[in-house]
Amino acid sequence: MNPMRVGIIGAGNISSIYCENLKKFPSTELVAIADIVPAAAQAQAEKYEIKAFTVEELISSTEIDLVVNLTIPAVHGQVAIQILNAGKHVHNEKPLAPNREEAREMLRMAKEKGLTIGCAPDTFLGAAHQQVRKLIESGIIGPVVGVHGYMTSRGVESWHPNPEFFYKPGAGPMLDMGPYYLTAMVNMFGPIRRVASITNITYPERTVTSEPKKGTVIKVETPTHFGTTVQFHSGVVGQLTMSFDTHGFEGQPCIVVYGGDGTMIVPDPNSFDGWDGRPETGNIIVRKGGESQIIRATEPFKTNSRGLGVLDTVHAIAEGRPNRASGDLAFHVLDAMLASIESSEQDRFINLETKPDQPSLIGDAEFPAERELMG
Ligand SMILES: NC(=O)c1ccc[n+]([C@@H]2O[C@H](COP(=O)([O-])OP(=O)(O)OC[C@H]3O[C@@H](n4cnc5c(N)ncnc54)[C@H](O)[C@@H]3O)[C@@H](O)[C@H]2O)c1
Repeated sequence: MNPMRVGIIGAGNISSIYCENLKKFPSTELVAIADIVPAAAQAQAEKYEIKAFTVEELISSTEIDLVVNLTIPAVHGQVAIQILNAGKHVHNEKPLAPNREEAREMLRMAKEKGLTIGCAPDTFLGAAHQQVRKLIESGIIGPVVGVHGYMTSRGVESWHPNPEFFYKPGAGPMLDMGPYYLTAMVNMFGPIRRVASITNITYPERTVTSEPKKGTVIKVETPTHFGTTVQFHSGVVGQLTMSFDTHGFEGQPCIVVYGGDGTMIVPDPNSFDGWDGRPETGNIIVRKGGESQIIRATEPFKTNSRGLGVLDTVHAIAEGRPNRASGDLAFHVLDAMLASIESSEQDRFINLETKPDQPSLIGDAEFPAERELMG
């Protein structure tokens, strides 16, 4: 298979790990990077020895077949629509788009033009979550009854240099972190049928304590605490606590899966491996019959493999199969996250309009070169 020629739009924080991995993977050839701030693209281009283009040059370039869109969430949809319009495949950072209208338009264009959409997160393709899925399907905890996801934090204004946007529509704990949790759950249990939430804005104003905006008061315009219930089509009952208003505690699990025969503690869905280096905690814990079994994930892609979803998309296009971190999956997760806000506003359950297939597990013979490289 010839490597697919890839360009990146958005040369911010997260672009370094994508540049590193997409340069390293034998199946992708990283050609160029662009940003509305030309100096940002130039700096990454020099560091990774690739070309710096303007956004327009990159979108219209004949040297590029797939564009990785690492811009800010508010413009994910608009930028992706331009990329698709230019006849290129696209892989967005999460969330897929800020609203359903742009997401729908992306999927419509891709279908019409025979292009493929991929979207972060791709952490569910990493070692820990692939292994968790295999263990659940092996019946290790019996039939799954319920799942609980916990993302508790007191917010980002104490450390993030630019925290305002986290408290505006399009962000908050659900749209910012929900993609990791909900994608991990759909990977485990298939699509979600309906969603109900109670949300709150516990602190209507936030004072920034981080530099350089120390002292700035932020008006909170989106819910910052969610108690959300999701029902999967499979019948599994899910609950999520997503919060910028609370404090986590040492040892708090990210996801707990409750089965008829036992309980599984599942690693952070925002990591590929979830290994904290402590053999006594491993990265997956199964509690059964009063005993704990500590399991170290042995599946491939244990290191920071951001871009693994792009790799899967490139192979999916070559093989004529659906990609796993797909536009359909990301639209479903967006649908569920928006429904979690609407449900609380409207005081009712929201049935989802989307129902993607559960992504297939990565096969043992897939991506041999990259699995060797990434560990
Ligand atoms: N930083 C992280 O740890 C992290 C982790 C996972 C996902 N993400 C996601 O990745 C995306 C980028 O995050 P980041 O932390 O790199 O943000 P960032 O603000 O550091 O970088 C975003 C870049 O996009 C550029 N940009 C904005 N609008 C643009 C446009 N219309 N055209 C071209 N360039 C444009 C900005 O100039 C900036 O350089 C976000 O969607 C975020 O949710 C970030």
